[in-house]
Amino acid sequence: MLISVLGTGYLGATHAACLAAAGHEVVGVDRDPGRLEVLRGGRAPFHEAGLDELIAEGVAAGRLRFTDDLADVAGADVHFLCVGTPQVGDGDGADLSALWSVADALAPYLGEHSLVVGKSTVPVGTGARLRDRLGARVAWNPEFLREGRAVRDTLRPDRLVLGVDDDDDHRTLLLVYADLVAAGVPVIRTDLATAELAKVSANAMLATRISTVNLLAEVCEASGADVGDLTTILGADPRIGRDFLAPGLGYGGGCLPKDTRAFVARARELGVGESAALFDAVDRVNLHQRSRTAELARSLLPAGGGTVAILGGAFKAESDDIRDSPALDVAGRLHRSGATVRLHDPFAGANVRRACPELTVVDDVATTCRGADLVLVLTEWPQFAALDPYEVGELVCRRTVLDARLVLDPEKWVGAGWDFRALGRSA
Ligand code: UDX
Repeated sequence: MLISVLGTGYLGATHAACLAAAGHEVVGVDRDPGRLEVLRGGRAPFHEAGLDELIAEGVAAGRLRFTDDLADVAGADVHFLCVGTPQVGDGDGADLSALWSVADALAPYLGEHSLVVGKSTVPVGTGARLRDRLGARVAWNPEFLREGRAVRDTLRPDRLVLGVDDDDDHRTLLLVYADLVAAGVPVIRTDLATAELAKVSANAMLATRISTVNLLAEVCEASGADVGDLTTILGADPRIGRDFLAPGLGYGGGCLPKDTRAFVARARELGVGESAALFDAVDRVNLHQRSRTAELARSLLPAGGGTVAILGGAFKAESDDIRDSPALDVAGRLHRSGATVRLHDPFAGANVRRACPELTVVDDVATTCRGADLVLVLTEWPQFAALDPYEVGELVCRRTVLDARLVLDPEKWVGAGWDFRALGRSA
């Protein structure tokens, strides 16, 4: 099968590499020359565990190519649309301009039997509009990959969602994913609208879970209850489950925040605004974690200034992605309030430097912490959990630490003479 993947961001690059690993001939299409050069060199244009190797393997085997010319994918059996659908500049809805523009550019190259498969996250109803616009066969096949685990999630997904109009399109997609089907990955066949809705619904529910646990953490902080024990008790109920119950600074990244808002915007268009207000509250609780963390940090610094050592810039661990990063939101607030901010992140340092030139980004923990009045943990990197509080204590000016991701061991830090604060823990 000849397969094209249009858009080579996190989703497209990972999808293309995994399809090539499954034995397909795959062509990735992108208009960004810098990104294409990196991909052709057999590397990923971002940090993602295991992806460099997979791309290098596909390129070396001749199964994976990259181009900026749609003529190179003319007549391909399947075209996957993997372009970004960011939040619109002046509202909460999804910006579909990249999707329409790539679809229009692809139209002249579609063969009679080509199947166009949407993978981008879109408002429900987009697939039907695309089908009308192209006059072609269209299916929707959302992905649920997490950054940092993108390759694992794509090679072994929890479920394969195939939103199709008819048996032919279903059969085509089963051939594309023959290896996953053979490995026993559950396949859920549905219609286009349900497949589209599945992705935003999953992300909105995950966001709700995090804001719920963060609300509970705030109540623990105010009442003296133990949020760690509380989440253990809740997670022991199989109806609730243990995953995705980590309290802290809240969610960020390129998906959860924008998908939750886009869900609400689309629900309002569909006349379901009253109930969708639930997700507005989820968003507000999430953003509140950022302002309250900045305020708490500010209260632990000397009046009007002080130096804060920030550990973490990425929106989560195992990723160099800083899109809508809660850590950078807090860092920016502290900088604007007059604090001297030094920040370190194991992988996202270069991205933070580019995006936030006003912040001082340093390459190691020791330089970050030297002479600091406050150590502030904002991303849940395991490297930070493993820090020795005695060693860090020798570097700082004052032994005060605020753990906004609940990764440090309070006993160890208190034992080493630190004034230990954490979200969800009463002072
Ligand atoms: C998410 C979805 O998980 C994935 O299925 C979808 O395809 C894309 O969006 P991702 O954005 O990579 O994936 O990150 P995820 O691991 O879901 O974490 C999202 C955010 O929530 C991060 O900022 C993380 O730090 C935070 N988080 C996660 C918590 O605060 N607590 C948790 O228990 C889990």
